[in-house]
Amino acid sequence: MEILIATHNEHKKEEIQQILPDYKITSLRDYQLFDEIVEDGDSFEVNAKIKAEYCFQKTGKASLGDDSGLVVPALDGRPGIYSARYAGDHDFKANIQKVLQEMEGVEEREAYFITVLCLIDEGKEEYFEGRVYGTLKREPSGNQGFGYDPIFIPKGEELTFADMSTEEKNKISHRANALKKFLAYLKK
Ligand code: IMP
Repeated sequence: MEILIATHNEHKKEEIQQILPDYKITSLRDYQLFDEIVEDGDSFEVNAKIKAEYCFQKTGKASLGDDSGLVVPALDGRPGIYSARYAGDHDFKANIQKVLQEMEGVEEREAYFITVLCLIDEGKEEYFEGRVYGTLKREPSGNQGFGYDPIFIPKGEELTFADMSTEEKNKISHRANALKKFLAYLKK
């Protein structure tokens, strides 16, 4: 069975292919679809659905959309769905600085990463959610990974995600947890 992932990112495609070796994983690139999908939903679920729906409408293949972000309860859930462009579009440094500034003097430093996956297929719409809980460090550390990894310390660890190898992070990440649920669903 084929699953089309709503991404232009070949790393994401490879990560999912490794977790689902029995499936043929394709991406937008394999269908020469280069449109920018406008994610203007007001929740992770809606954004994941927008992406999956676009792929399904274009190809008729089982399609998986995803949306992820960092949620900080002390900041009323920000950056949340605005994670990618909180301070500047995909400007990871500026985004981290903005979160650290807003967290100055705040003692409640809990946060979590979340991924929501939406699968759309003929007559089917399913959601899978993964989270990883942790705390926010006061200054960035490490140079692996991307996004907010340098300020996020997962629960029970001392290193930030950016201090860990990709392998270690991928074992416990929000994305891995959501994909595990997806895999369990496929095996049912
Ligand atoms: P996307 O939905 O996977 O594109 O993620 C949206 C944004 O959330 C990214 O641009 C990052 O700012 C943030 N984000 C998502 N996943 C991670 C992660 O694993 N580490 C750090 N930041 C992440």
